[in-house]
Parts: sequence; structure tokens; C-alpha cells
Amino acid sequence: MTLERKPVAFGDLRGWLGALDKAGELHRIDAEVDWNIELGTVARLAQGPGTGPALLFDKIRDYGENARCRQVFAGALSSYRRIAMMLGLPPDTHPRELVQLGRTILTGAIPPKIVGTGPVKETIVKGDDVDLNDFPVPQWNRADGGRYVLTYGGVVTKDPATNVMNVGVYRGMVAGKNLIPMLMWRAQHIGHHATAWQQLGHNEMPIAVAIGWEPSLDFVGGAPVPKGLCEYDVVGAIRGAPVELVKCETNDLYVPAGAEIVIEGFLSFDPATFLPEGPYAEFTGYVAGDRSPKPAIRVTCITHRNNPILRGTIEGTMPGSYSENSVTSSIMRAATAWNVLDRAGVPGVTDVWCPPVQAGVNTIVQVKQSYRGVAKQVANALWGSSAAHVRYKHVTVVDDDIDIHDYAAVDWAIAFRVNAGEDDVVIMPSTFGAGLDPSVRKRDRNVAQFGTGKWHRVLIDATINLDYDPDPDLGGARFPPTVRPEQRDIDAVKARWKELGLDGKK
Ligand SMILES: Cc1cc2nc3c(=O)[nH]c(=O)nc-3n(C[C@H](O)[C@H](O)[C@H](O)COP(=O)(O)O)c2cc1C
Repeated sequence: MTLERKPVAFGDLRGWLGALDKAGELHRIDAEVDWNIELGTVARLAQGPGTGPALLFDKIRDYGENARCRQVFAGALSSYRRIAMMLGLPPDTHPRELVQLGRTILTGAIPPKIVGTGPVKETIVKGDDVDLNDFPVPQWNRADGGRYVLTYGGVVTKDPATNVMNVGVYRGMVAGKNLIPMLMWRAQHIGHHATAWQQLGHNEMPIAVAIGWEPSLDFVGGAPVPKGLCEYDVVGAIRGAPVELVKCETNDLYVPAGAEIVIEGFLSFDPATFLPEGPYAEFTGYVAGDRSPKPAIRVTCITHRNNPILRGTIEGTMPGSYSENSVTSSIMRAATAWNVLDRAGVPGVTDVWCPPVQAGVNTIVQVKQSYRGVAKQVANALWGSSAAHVRYKHVTVVDDDIDIHDYAAVDWAIAFRVNAGEDDVVIMPSTFGAGLDPSVRKRDRNVAQFGTGKWHRVLIDATINLDYDPDPDLGGARFPPTVRPEQRDIDAVKARWKELGLDGKK
């Protein structure tokens, strides 16, 4: 089935807020909330398991009438309804369909349009006047190493050879009036750019962060857009109109003209300038980002709209409270895995899902088996891909009669179709893996020493084993039938359902 998308250009963050409000998806908090721990705790508790509203905090302690910025917005993408809205789909579109769409959504391209100026230039603050403390940056969690201003901003850098820009979501902490140390992994596209600038002899590179615009910028910035493709092009395709960009004041990067806040500056590669960053409540749901010296942005300018709204997010998922990163990742990590399987030529894949509570560290693949060993082919293909770096640690493969969006169905398949003595559980030891996973011993997640973490991966083959002999007593089947009545028996009973007094009862 092909989904009919009606792309929506919300205009800016305020247009998106209006749409959310109209759809009953926005909750405004007028009561004063403390930026210090309280705001983050409210955001975490309110998001629920993908059920909470988007939150606009209107009154924040210490940031009253005369403050440069007085509002914080969070939680917009922690719900499949709102992801569907962003994509121009009916809000009740099933996540299964969002995954299907996710398989192609990053390949669209409508190039951005450069404009002379825009609302983000309403106020320009440069040099000594720059003070990140002017913004109500939350101390999101008590355990965080500081106040995180970069949680869901689009971090813009460019390839010095091609000038193609990249927009990615990377965390960053306030470490002074104009300093933001950040988690920059060399394997990410920002890291590729850093390496390219360094190889040309530079000890810093231009950087800008666009905070608060249409939701597609956050969504695409946090998704694995292929290297060399500019996220602005993809965002244009999602909203069906070019992104209007303005040039930064103090470097030659471009940012959305209608962004709420833009932080401009330079990211230094000189270890002498590194600043302590972390720990941070990470996507795993653990406070797992170690405090260590990291490259820092030296902020040269901040531009913002009048009464800007600071867009942020509470990171880290736990049962009952799913972060925006987890919910969006559950779509895009599943879509990416499916594309990997297709490219590897694995036949008969009928569904892929990454439940949001772990967003693809455990991945479930549904297949229509046509020969023996398909599950192992699935695991080999996924684990051999670069997409497996921080995901797909545990892969469960089921047959196409198992609904992978139903935990009970998957559990049932694991209970009765898995036999560890028949090679249905396979461990692939000592592969690359997420350095943030607390189940890995500390030595093995030492990214500084090994470049990445170490994962022992597991395949659970919960498909019917085609290596079993066909049973003549079962008409040649390898497994007995389930207890589900035959359709003719179901139909006969359903015809009498009302008569039996069971109408309205399952
Ligand atoms: C809320 C949020 C926070 C994230 N924080 C980081 C981070 O600190 N460092 C990082 O490398 N990736 C982080 N990611 C994941 C990246 O955004 C993601 O891998 C994306 O593909 C990076 O862009 P790139 O592919 O252009 O490098 C985060 C994602 C989200 C949604």
C-alpha cells in the first residue's frame, strides 16, 4: 500500500505550535517552572509511553519579563500522531506505515532558497555581549554535568572541499558565557567534516546551530541521511517547499531564516582547548555519557527572533517514558534496517520494527521463509552494515504470521519456535558496538582507546525450523497447527454470536 502524503510547510516553529494547538496536541504550562531539574522532570514524566502532549513552558524561574528568552518547547516528536502530522499524514497512521515511508523519506530533495534576511535576524548579539546564560537552558537531569543547550538543535557544518552542508543533532553543554563543549564522534558526519578541515591544516571549523524551526529539521537532523546529501534538501522534500536560508553573521554557513535562535561560532580541534563535558542522561535510559574533555564551540554570535522560544528535549528513554529520540528512531532505525536487508538481497522480508523503548537495540524482523537459513542471513546482513554501529545488538526473526508490533505475539514465537539446541540462538562475539551501553564492561566501552564500544550480538531465530523433517501425520507440515479454529468454524459461531448473548464482547 502506498501512503498519500500531503506535505505541509508549517512556516516556522510558531506555525507548528499553531497546528499542534489546533489538533489538541499541545499543552501550555503557565505556572512557573524551575529550569533547574524541575522542567526536565516534568518533561520526562509527561511524555509517557508515546502518549504525552508537546509541552510549551511559558514561565520559567529567573527568566521573567525582561529576559532575552522566556519560553521552552519540548516533546513534539515523542508521539507517532505528531510524526504523522509532520509528514502530512493522518494522525492515526500506524507506525508500520511510517516505517514503510521512512524507507524512502530521506531520498527526496528540494534544494533550499537563499534569502537576504529573515526573522532570526531580529536581534543580533556579538562578541562580549554573547551570554548563553541569557537563555533558560534547563538542567534537564540532576545527574547531568551541566545545562544542555544543544539537545534538539540542527548543528550545521560544511565539507571544506565541496561546501555541502550537513545538519545533525548532537548534544552540547553550557560551559561559560560563550563556550559549548559537545559530543562529537568522528564516525558521524560532523566528525567527517572535522577530519576534512583538520587535514587541510585548520585547527577549527565554522559551526552554527539552528534551534527551533519546523519539526522536519529536528527529525531529519537526527536521522541517518546519507553522507554528501544535505539535510536542508531532504527537509524541503518533506515539507514540499524549499527551506529559506540566511547567511550567518560571523561565518559562511546558512541557517533557516525563521529559526528561533541561531548560535554561530567555531569548533576547535586543539586538545588544549577541550572542555569537560558530561555526564548526560543518554538514549539508553542511563546516565552513561562520561565526563571527559571534548571539543567546544567558541560562540561568536547569537541571532534570534523577538521573544525567542528555546527548543529542547529530554533525552533518555525508560519504560513508561519514551524520548523524542526513541520514538523517531524506532521509525528510522527500522526503515534503515529494512533497506539494508533489501540491498543485501535477503528475500521475503515482510516487516521490520524497532520498539521505541529501546529504539532498535533489539530489532524484530518478520519474514516469509522460502528456504532454510533466512534468519541467519538477516542477522549477517544487519551486523555487517555500518548502520549496526549503535543498534541491532539483538535480532529476533519471526514468521509472517507473527505481528511484530505485538509483544505478546513475539514472546509466543520465542517460547515455542526457539530451540537453543537447534542453533536458534547464535552469538556473534566481539563486534563493534555502542560505547554508551552500560551492560558492556567499562573497559570495552572505552571509545577513546578502541574508537568504539564492543558488542556481543545475539540472533534469536524464532521462525519455524525448516531443517525439521516434514511430518506425514501433519500433511507434510513441520509444525502442528495452532489452536485457532478453522475459518468455517469461526464464521458459523460468529453467525450465532448475538443469539449467544456475546454481542459486543470479544
Ligand atoms: C535528541 C538527539 C540527541 C542526539 N545526540 C547525539 C550526540 O550527542 N552525538 C551524536 O553523535 N549523535 C547524537 N544523536 C544521533 C544523531 O543525531 C544521528 O546519528 C544523526 O544521524 C547524525 O547526523 P549525521 O548522520 O549527519 O551525522 C542524537 C539524536 C537525537 C534525536
